[in-house]
Amino acid sequence: MTGSESGGRLLASVAPSRGDGGGEPGLELIRAKDPVTVVIFGASGDLAKRKLLPALYHLQAAGYLPERYAVIGFSRTPMSDAMYRECMHKALAEQIHDGAALDAGDPLLTSLYYHAGDADKLASFQALKETIEEIERERSLPGNRIFYLSVAPEFFTVIVQNLVAAGLVRDKNDPAWSRVIIEKPFGRDLDSARALNAAVTKVLDESQIYRIDHYLGKETVQNILSFRFGNSIFEPLFNQKYVDNVQVTVAETLGMEGRRGAYYDTAGTMRDMVQNHMLQLLCLIAMEPPSALEARSIRDEKVKVLRALEPLTRKQVAVSTVRGQYGVGEQNGQGVKGYRQEEGVGPKSTTETYVALRLKIDNWRWAGVPFLLRSGKRLAKRVSEIAVTFKQPPMRLFRPFDELDDEVAAARANSNLLVLRIQPDEGISLSFACKRPGIKVQLDEVNMDFFYGRAFQQRSPEAYERLLLDALRGDASLFTRSDEVDCAWRFVSSIHQGWASLPPPQFPNYYPFTDGPDEANRLLEGTEARWRSLAEM
Ligand code: BG6
Repeated sequence: MTGSESGGRLLASVAPSRGDGGGEPGLELIRAKDPVTVVIFGASGDLAKRKLLPALYHLQAAGYLPERYAVIGFSRTPMSDAMYRECMHKALAEQIHDGAALDAGDPLLTSLYYHAGDADKLASFQALKETIEEIERERSLPGNRIFYLSVAPEFFTVIVQNLVAAGLVRDKNDPAWSRVIIEKPFGRDLDSARALNAAVTKVLDESQIYRIDHYLGKETVQNILSFRFGNSIFEPLFNQKYVDNVQVTVAETLGMEGRRGAYYDTAGTMRDMVQNHMLQLLCLIAMEPPSALEARSIRDEKVKVLRALEPLTRKQVAVSTVRGQYGVGEQNGQGVKGYRQEEGVGPKSTTETYVALRLKIDNWRWAGVPFLLRSGKRLAKRVSEIAVTFKQPPMRLFRPFDELDDEVAAARANSNLLVLRIQPDEGISLSFACKRPGIKVQLDEVNMDFFYGRAFQQRSPEAYERLLLDALRGDASLFTRSDEVDCAWRFVSSIHQGWASLPPPQFPNYYPFTDGPDEANRLLEGTEARWRSLAEM
């Protein structure tokens, strides 16, 4: 645990109360109450338009925003408040359901302001301070502030330093609070992550820093904890005694979509997906129960999982990791660019667009259980899930009968499987063996499925909605702590170092819209596991 830490309890722990004076039951407990000024750096960027503004819009529509607030966009392009409102009106109209009906008088739009400035110039922050104070006076806002850093990572440190130097951030003990939300990537290796952390924690208290990983805001990701620790059925089985292997898949069909190549080529899947989202999923599926549903306990348990992931030696990297890069292909008769042909990507790039890993969690609960992780771009299907395969019964009682039918063996391989589907078709499914009706004793695989969409007739909040509301309420449970980030980078950097010392990969090595390189099967040697086919997932 580092520094002090904001308390905050996960919203899930808030029991709905009735009689709040109308509206949604429990609304008063959940909504953010402190009037606030939100400043978004990178105000006209993609994230602001596609995620942050829509998230604020939905929070407001649901009554979760405080009664008084202002949102100030900060970016380089000169623009008036009116122009910014118009631009965000357009962006919101495209993003939200019923966008065409969005009125220019919408309370969110009329709470928007704009301040043009340079992120690396202190003078811009001194001017921003004047703007903020004026708006706060106008709107009777007490000076609680959230600064959202939705900018390229090279600006993180300078913005935080300038915020503090200009006196925009209050002391952690000041009654008016200040919080800084930092987008990913938090560093590009262990050293740079540590340097960033040192720079940021030099001027801010840990309780003021909210490192965002949007996967933690996804409804189904949060449900991993509810499912594991809100039931007593499965948790006793979640250990090396009963689990054969755990597979975590985050597959995307998207490639670089034009603009992303230049960034991605400096990152690769390991930095872009594994260091943050995949390792977070791993923590949630493998962690011990926290003693309470609050920030410190949850993050303490996640850190223990990350600490149990020993950094890999060069030899282990060669054996336990597989990299891939997509080549040229086609879809519906149309040519599809290979990664090296994408805009912003070098023709000899050795950046990976696919990673598969076989990991060990060296602790009492999981010793000996392979954790198989894979993620990639341009794969056969967009699907994210965690599949827990349980061990076969100790005695193959049905073996003589199984041999009557080859299909049975295949069905068997799929049974005793618990799948937590993160996206799309969010839900949980359990497969088990069952006797097929008939005189013969023949086993078949059957499923029990739960789909969010069918079970609950209500809209799931988007990840950013949930996370923004948590930050407004001062709940850091779903944000990553500095020691978590450090441990994750320690592990990931060991893989990067191993790769750097191995012969360069033979890229490209998989066709677009497939399951990735065949070489990933090498990771399964010596186990009963097989990668789940993306098409069948
Ligand atoms: C981002 C990565 O963090 O997550 C992207 O930078 C990736 O490369 C995205 O596409 C995936 O998020 P989601 O929510 O679409 O699964």
